[in-house]
Amino acid sequence: MRMVNIDDYNEKTMQLAKPVQDEKRRVLLGAGSTIHEKYLSKLKELGIRYLFIEDAKSKGISLDEMMDMPTWMDIIAVVEKTFKDVKENNPLPMIELNKSVKRLTEEVSRNKAIILIPTTTVSASLKPFAHMVNVTLLALQIGKKLGYNGLQLHDLAFGCLLHDIGKAKTDNREEHPETGFNIIRANREISLISAHVAYQHHETLDGKGFPRKIEGKDVLEFAQICSIANDYENAISNEALSPDEAIEKIMTYSNRKYTHDIVLAFHRGIISYPPGTNVKLNIGDGIVTKVIDNPHRPVVRVHKVGKEVSLNQQPTIMIEKVLPEETNEIK
Ligand SMILES: [Fe+2]
Repeated sequence: MRMVNIDDYNEKTMQLAKPVQDEKRRVLLGAGSTIHEKYLSKLKELGIRYLFIEDAKSKGISLDEMMDMPTWMDIIAVVEKTFKDVKENNPLPMIELNKSVKRLTEEVSRNKAIILIPTTTVSASLKPFAHMVNVTLLALQIGKKLGYNGLQLHDLAFGCLLHDIGKAKTDNREEHPETGFNIIRANREISLISAHVAYQHHETLDGKGFPRKIEGKDVLEFAQICSIANDYENAISNEALSPDEAIEKIMTYSNRKYTHDIVLAFHRGIISYPPGTNVKLNIGDGIVTKVIDNPHRPVVRVHKVGKEVSLNQQPTIMIEKVLPEETNEIK
């Protein structure tokens, strides 16, 4: 299985590996089906930009480091419900939220590194909620690398899963952190530090963030983690950067938006070339098949020899660049 941009979908060679659902989670197309041209444009209208497919090239590729889609969609639905509850002045759905935090924490403890499901694999109306789930996954991964205990991970995850909840009450970008802070703070079952994650997630070390422009040590470590996760998620899902490009971008913010230690912890837990990435190596073109020991040195199947090489064991082999789909045909 691999992920392709919807524009690169080829009806003749590719089948869906995962179902495509609409915003109500109705299955539009099941796994195993092919997508007719007319239907492709419908999916694009829904805001879907990526598809999971099987084809000759994807043979032997699995995406084990990616969260399973039904669970991911379940948690997105919980965040959507939370927004609705806040809009209607109902209490936060704590049972579902607690369960979601637990499932996300388990997911992160299971995997050495994670691959994000871009929010553009779901319809546009679910995107803001999917974003909050992805930010939580990334934050937990960073927390794990920093050696956080269970309680710290819980509080971090709660803050991240609700970091943009203020948007349920205000359209003003400058206001949403404080609005969110007040919503979370009003709930006694949630730690105050989680509320501060929402309050501070747009603050930066150099004091150029918002809403209070606090700086340096005043920006809580949890909030810095939420901030880096937020930046990476936006780079992947909104700017459509590839994971390696997104990591590069984050590195440039080191010690300006968040501390270098947090950037390093982030770097250790993120896969830069997920399985299925088409790459140009200094020894020829290939496709990433697995990520084993080192999240930045994957195993690559080299097309011209039809064999896999582990970059982690072959230090002289370099990835020169990520290739777009059409230039990297199997010959
Ligand atoms: Fe935000």
